[in-house]
Amino acid sequence: MSPVGRHQIGTIRSWRLALLIAFMLAGCDKESNSPAQTAEGGDPRRGRALYMSNCAACHNNDPSRDGPVGPAIKRSSLALIEARVLRATYPPGYTPKRKTSAMPAQPYLKSALPDLAAFLR
Ligand code: HEC
Repeated sequence: MSPVGRHQIGTIRSWRLALLIAFMLAGCDKESNSPAQTAEGGDPRRGRALYMSNCAACHNNDPSRDGPVGPAIKRSSLALIEARVLRATYPPGYTPKRKTSAMPAQPYLKSALPDLAAFLR
């Protein structure tokens, strides 16, 4: 049971969910396949679905609270989310809440970063 495999399954599930939600919101809007690359353009509802399937197991269903493994991450900046999710690093000068390095990078979530940031704002 590799963690990567498990996360990929979660990603596939969450993208189907995200697309379903997008179709419900926008009819058959093809634009929903190309989310904007800014936090402002992110969709918090899609971000929530992505968060629940890719982050909540370690963090918390409520991102403003510490989870079983990871700290509270409500109000994380897009730069912090990008550094953590794509590379498991931190932005220059950022003081991490934890000194551990237990969180795996999930680079396949690149296009989801604005949605995650919009949800965590
Ligand atoms: C396997 C468990 C796990 C998963 C899955 C996970 N995280 Fe984390 N996360 C952690 C842990 C543990 C830390 C604390 C630093 C460390 O040990 O890597 C952390 C730290 C963070 C931080 C930095 C907090 C701070 O201010 O110092 C952010 C932001 C974050 N995670 C976002 C996310 C997002 C977004 C996702 C989903 C895409 C996610 N994490 C998925 C375990 C996880």
